Amino acid sequence: MEKQEKYELLAPLVESLATGSDDEIGVLANVCAALREAMDFFWVGFYRVCGDELLLGPFQGSVACFKIPFGKGVCGTAWQRKETLVVPDVEEFPGHIACSSLSRSEIVVPLMDETGEVRAVLDIDSKELGDFDDTDRQWLEQMMQTVARQLWKI
Ligand code: SME
Repeated sequence: MEKQEKYELLAPLVESLATGSDDEIGVLANVCAALREAMDFFWVGFYRVCGDELLLGPFQGSVACFKIPFGKGVCGTAWQRKETLVVPDVEEFPGHIACSSLSRSEIVVPLMDETGEVRAVLDIDSKELGDFDDTDRQWLEQMMQTVARQLWKI
C-alpha cells in the first residue's frame, strides 16, 4: 500500500482516538500506537513542553532521551520555530540529538494550543535516509491539529 493510502485509512482512526478521552496521556499514547501500527515507523513519540524543556511522553520504539532543551536538537528547534521540520539526513542537522545510532532521517511536528503556544511535539524517526516528504508533513500536520484541537480546545 502506498503511503498516501495508509494515511487515508489512518486519519479517521486518529480523529476518533483524539475524541475518545480528555486525558492527555491516554490520547497521545493511543495516537502514537496507531501511527506505529499503520505506518510501521522505527520510532514515534511525543515530547511535552514542561517549562523551558521538552520531556519524553508516550512513545513506541526503543529507549529515548528524557529531556530536550528549548531550541536544541530537531525537536527543540521545531518548538522554537513553531513549524514542522523534515530532516532527510540527521547527520546534516547541526545539534541533532542521537537517541539511536540507527536513526537516519526524522520529522518533527509541533502541536499548538488555542493561543498558538506549542504544547508538545510529535517526533518520528526512520532508519532510512530521506524517508519523510510533503505527504508525511501534510497528513501529520492535519492529524496533529485535530489532536491539539481536542486536547487543548482550539
Ligand atoms: N533526534 C531528536 C531527539 C529525540 S529522539 O530522536 C527520539 C532531536 O534531535 O531532537
